[in-house]
Amino acid sequence: MRDQALEVLISEDEIRERVAALAERISSDYAQANDLLLVGVLRGAFIFLADLARLLTVPHKIDFISLSSYERGDRPTGAVRLLLDLRSEIEGRDILIVEDIVDTGHTLEYLKQSLSARRPASLKTCALTQKPARHEVPVEIDYLGFEIPDVWVVGYGLDFEDRFRTLPHIAVIDPTSG
Ligand code: PRP
Repeated sequence: MRDQALEVLISEDEIRERVAALAERISSDYAQANDLLLVGVLRGAFIFLADLARLLTVPHKIDFISLSSYERGDRPTGAVRLLLDLRSEIEGRDILIVEDIVDTGHTLEYLKQSLSARRPASLKTCALTQKPARHEVPVEIDYLGFEIPDVWVVGYGLDFEDRFRTLPHIAVIDPTSG
């Protein structure tokens, strides 16, 4: 399947505008914070995080965590496994989780539980996209880019079998074709 054949769901311009608006809100909300740590969830969030972070006007640091969901067949079981932990201590710090997509919500739920157990000063979430129709647990996102329908999306960090992550826009892909 070739990149050009994919239908654009969210254009590059729309993403740029929305990311700038999120960065403005986050910068305003954290204006008084003195130890903000952005936690990017690998791998999908790396492009969103890079763009968002460069638009923030407040001091911040960056770390990464990597998680994977257990699947049975091609269906998620809801169980989440930690693949790569943070390098930073987070106790007493302001933590903002940065995700590319919230699908079933299990990854975010696991992350919130496991990071809050480390006693940060605050813990909030920022996600570029979410699919409300797919949520299996209650999901609260403090800073959300876009709600999207229950379709498979790629681009701007999102992948299908590890491809298409570097498309500048978000596109719909039919995983059953070609
Ligand atoms: C995606 C995404 C989230 C998670 C969300 O990661 O980046 O971390 O799935 O799914 P959930 O809400 O159903 O838990 P994925 O496992 O595809 O890995 P990747 O980021 O490396 O592509």
